[in-house]
Amino acid sequence: MTLLNVQNVTTGYGATVVNRDVSITLGENEIITILGPNGAGKSTLLRTVVGLVRPRGGSISFAGENLTGRTPDIMAKRGVVLVPEGRRIFADMTVEENLRLGAYARGDVGAVEADVKTMESFFPILATKRQQKGGSLSGGQQQMLAIARGLMARPRVLLLDEPSLGLSPLLVKEIQQIILDIGKTFGASVLLVEQNAGLALSVASRGYLMQNGRIATSGPIAELKDMSLMRELYLGGATEHS
Ligand SMILES: Nc1ncnc2c1ncn2[C@@H]1O[C@H](COP(=O)(O)OP(=O)(O)OP(=O)(O)O)[C@@H](O)[C@H]1O
Ligand SMILES: [Mg+2]
Repeated sequence: MTLLNVQNVTTGYGATVVNRDVSITLGENEIITILGPNGAGKSTLLRTVVGLVRPRGGSISFAGENLTGRTPDIMAKRGVVLVPEGRRIFADMTVEENLRLGAYARGDVGAVEADVKTMESFFPILATKRQQKGGSLSGGQQQMLAIARGLMARPRVLLLDEPSLGLSPLLVKEIQQIILDIGKTFGASVLLVEQNAGLALSVASRGYLMQNGRIATSGPIAELKDMSLMRELYLGGATEHS
């Protein structure tokens, strides 16, 4: 079943149109990826899906309900949650406070405490840092906290914007495993935006390639890997000038 259905969305900032006519679907228990160069409009699309940016055309629906133009808290209540790029955690708040903030849109206050514990077992590093300020964590730990905070909303769809940015290869491996486990542990589907094509192609079953605000091509990962455009951009097929 299609959970998230983005149809012909055109969006941008003020007079600037960034994304044109973008259509994306995400099913239950699915991990998909959007790849694309810097400035292609990946983050703008994710911000539009969660209601931070209002689309000027097209529609966004979730589980069959039209939610075009709804606010981020309505989207979070429905289960559509963004982990933004750049680990926007609250540096002056503790790890635990950051986690609790992730649950702000939930009604079941009683279950939040249990979920803080769930996050601490899913991300063991956070358990040892519970009372430390977010800003005192390393980059990788902050990324774990950002993902954990997103999961505290109990999303049905988690949008991850460049979770591997700036992380060591070892931590990228950890993030890879976490993304693969999110479905099993939390029952959420994942839309992953990545510059790290190796990571994205290893976890996703389908992908979209975005260029200049539009979807240039899409398909199952095996097919994408065979496309010359993908090879040119990501898979070492481009001519190297030394
Ligand atoms: N708040 C904003 N106001 C105006 N223009 C913006 C804003 N945020 C982004 N843009 C512009 O929108 C375009 C797409 O940016 P966006 O951040 O969506 O790209 P991206 O694909 O996520 O890039 P990256 O891989 O570098 O994160 C860029 O030209 C950017 O300058
Ligand atoms: Mg971006």
